Amino acid sequence: MKHFVLCSGIFSLFLLAFTVRSSETDFVKENFTYAGQQLRFMLQETASKPNSFPRTINKAGNLVTTNMYDWTPGFFPGSLWNAYDYMKDTEMRSAAREWTEQLEPLKTFTGHHDLGFMMYCSYGNAFQLTGDEAYKKILVQSARSLSTRFNAVTGCIKSWNSFRSWHGDKTYNFPVIIDNMMNLELLFFASKVTGDTAFRHVAVTHALNTMKNQVRKDYSSFHVVCYDTVTGKVAGRETAQGYADNSTWSRGQAWGIYGFTMVYRETKDPRFLKTAQGMADYFIHHKNLPADKVPYWDFNAGQKGYTPGVNSNARKITRPYRDASAAAIVASALLELSTYSGAKGGEYKEVAIKMLHALGSDVYRAKPGTNGNFLLMHCVGSIPHNGEIDVPLVYADYYFLEALNRYDHLLKGESLFAKKD
Ligand code: GLY
Repeated sequence: MKHFVLCSGIFSLFLLAFTVRSSETDFVKENFTYAGQQLRFMLQETASKPNSFPRTINKAGNLVTTNMYDWTPGFFPGSLWNAYDYMKDTEMRSAAREWTEQLEPLKTFTGHHDLGFMMYCSYGNAFQLTGDEAYKKILVQSARSLSTRFNAVTGCIKSWNSFRSWHGDKTYNFPVIIDNMMNLELLFFASKVTGDTAFRHVAVTHALNTMKNQVRKDYSSFHVVCYDTVTGKVAGRETAQGYADNSTWSRGQAWGIYGFTMVYRETKDPRFLKTAQGMADYFIHHKNLPADKVPYWDFNAGQKGYTPGVNSNARKITRPYRDASAAAIVASALLELSTYSGAKGGEYKEVAIKMLHALGSDVYRAKPGTNGNFLLMHCVGSIPHNGEIDVPLVYADYYFLEALNRYDHLLKGESLFAKKD
């Protein structure tokens, strides 16, 4: 009798685990079915507009596109690759190839640091999913172009060519933003496929200096750190897109969590793991993180002790806008971080799943055919610049799809990077 009770208990647990797993598999599937539909609508809308890369919508609800030199053109092709990765739909693959290949001229672009986003989200996914050698060559040339922005005195890649302080008193000529951590993945890739360790040296040096100068003791982050190119010392710590210089801009923190997790993957240096975990813990345990785990645009907006610069539009904003893009980036990062974090990994995975369910709900996910055919609503581009407030953003969709793919791989017991045809 005892034996029977034990067996039926084990069977019930097994059944419960199976039911939860299959409902989660359905959750991922339903989101990709929806995404496939929205992406196809977007393909129809953009069919007659070459060199116009979807970015967001304007106040009238119409699609806003950019040319290829903005920082975001890689995300729409990257979303198509993510959809193809899950759906294995050949039409999606042709569209992904077409959109990716428009970006080839960027391989020699050196105008800002975002080449990693632009090329690795497009060509990087393209190469992983097709193995096409031509894509590999383009990625290596792109890494060469990005490396030209590295300065041996500062030990960093220069993000923008200059940065005008919101305080109106200074313009800096060597700004580095926390977002720049994301561009390092392209350099690690180039180092692996060419055997040239110079790319890796640039990436690791940049990451070490970012860890030292940009991440605070409590693992929150400064958005912009400006350097003196003669002494290599820090000349200023400010914000461009956050509320105040000493606040924590949610998407900046998200880039840091993702970036340091990726650098740990590539180096296995425990200092990067500790930084990724510290930044993740700051984010997920913050008292201002709402119950659905989708953050406000800045963790400190409107709080005592935090003051926007005189020229920042953040001074005028009191509404607590959410930023779904930060949640999508963090969900994807936490799924990877969970696989490196032993016992702590359970919490990272649980929070990531909670974020994905929030983003996939009616609160954040748009109805088919609405939202300019983007997937997610309620993102923030830059409140200080008074731009892209409470709108869809193409990169939110990209990281949402990437996170769903990662979750799908975890549900199937596969490696997160089990791509390839
Ligand atoms: N990399 C720019 C941004 O996150 O808005």
